[in-house]
Amino acid sequence: MTILLTGGAGFIGANFIYFELKNHPEDRIVCLDALTYAGNLTTLAEALKNPNFAFYKVNICDRPAVYEIFEKEQPDAVVNFAAESHVDRSIETPEIFLQTNILGTQVMMDACRRYGTKRYHQVSTDEVYGDLPLDRPELFFTEETPIHTSSPYSASKASADLLVGAYCRTFGLPATISRCSNNYGPYHFPEKLIPLMIANALNDKPLPVYGKGENVRDWLYVEDHCRAIDLILRKGTVGEVYNVGGHNEMRNIDIVKLICRKLGKPESLITFVADRKGHDMRYAIDPSKIHRELGWLPETKFADGLDRTIDWYLTHRDWWETILSGEYRNYYEKMYGNRETLG
Ligand code: NAD
Ligand code: DAU
Repeated sequence: MTILLTGGAGFIGANFIYFELKNHPEDRIVCLDALTYAGNLTTLAEALKNPNFAFYKVNICDRPAVYEIFEKEQPDAVVNFAAESHVDRSIETPEIFLQTNILGTQVMMDACRRYGTKRYHQVSTDEVYGDLPLDRPELFFTEETPIHTSSPYSASKASADLLVGAYCRTFGLPATISRCSNNYGPYHFPEKLIPLMIANALNDKPLPVYGKGENVRDWLYVEDHCRAIDLILRKGTVGEVYNVGGHNEMRNIDIVKLICRKLGKPESLITFVADRKGHDMRYAIDPSKIHRELGWLPETKFADGLDRTIDWYLTHRDWWETILSGEYRNYYEKMYGNRETLG
């Protein structure tokens, strides 16, 4: 079959491309990506050598261009990864989040309707459920947890999810949605917690922890997420939402200390800085539905996944140093340059 995916030059999309080319060499993979600041074509250098892979530089909001690719490629399935994905940026510039994450999703679904695509999968996030309190560890997000968003990013992703549900019911679009917790692994853009801390620690720069560092995230190795999406696409039930997560909750401060230990760097690099506005306290996924219905379980333990990730950043310095030396420098200065330091 031909799988068309969007956002494949970004972190999870790229990992998904390599997962599919390895595990389903019989399939054709078509990637459509606007190559925003977060997209990186060098990430796809190996994939581009594969005759079963094609790349188009296209914005998912550009309806005529998207339709042209559907006309040519006639995909059997579509996976929509493309998004503005960073919460901090959504607080600075919400509009682009609404455009790409909501209107771009609409264009992709309209294309599926027009060309009779047999399956549409929306890559969503656990952030659509809002957050959980730190003092109620027995609470988890299930697929029935009400949507309750905190940031422009999560509101845009939740809006897209509602639109997918509406297209499914009103137009019979054969769609599924996955809502995953925080991913980590190779090709993770260095604006996000784990790669930012690895890169700064390697450069002996301050490690900016928001607030007290007590916020909890539920970390999943990116390959486990890719396997979940692949299973949903091939065996999931149309109209269903699947939560994806590995029961691996960690406080931010503990992750940063662990990275210091693994890299042999002093904890004195840790700097507590002004908190993110509207900062969600805790995310925790209940993945029992995808386990029960599709047999999915995470395969990578956090300690192994973090070792692999650190090794990858150590052996791919060119990849992230090129990012750090480009336009990203201005972003870093703007976000962290004048940020208040907490005592
Ligand atoms: P990313 O920011 O690393 O990559 C996003 C990719 O989308 C980039 O290649 C970018 O060029 C492309 N893109 C952005 N706007 C586009 C547009 N208008 N048209 C075409 N391409 C465009 O993001 P990621 O972390 O890989 O996340 C991928 C998806 O997974 C997103 O939908 C995100 O909401 C979701 N998600 C991410 C996580 C996580 O921990 N990173 C967890 C759960 C869900
Ligand atoms: O839960 C899934 C979501 O995970 C995805 O939908 C998002 O696309 C993805 O970016 C991620 O969102 P978070 O906001 O949880 O990830 P981030 O890496 O930005 O931050 C993780 C935690 O670390 C969060 O509590 C904020 C904190 N943090 C982050 C940065 C960048 C810091 O303390 N310091 C930092 O410099």
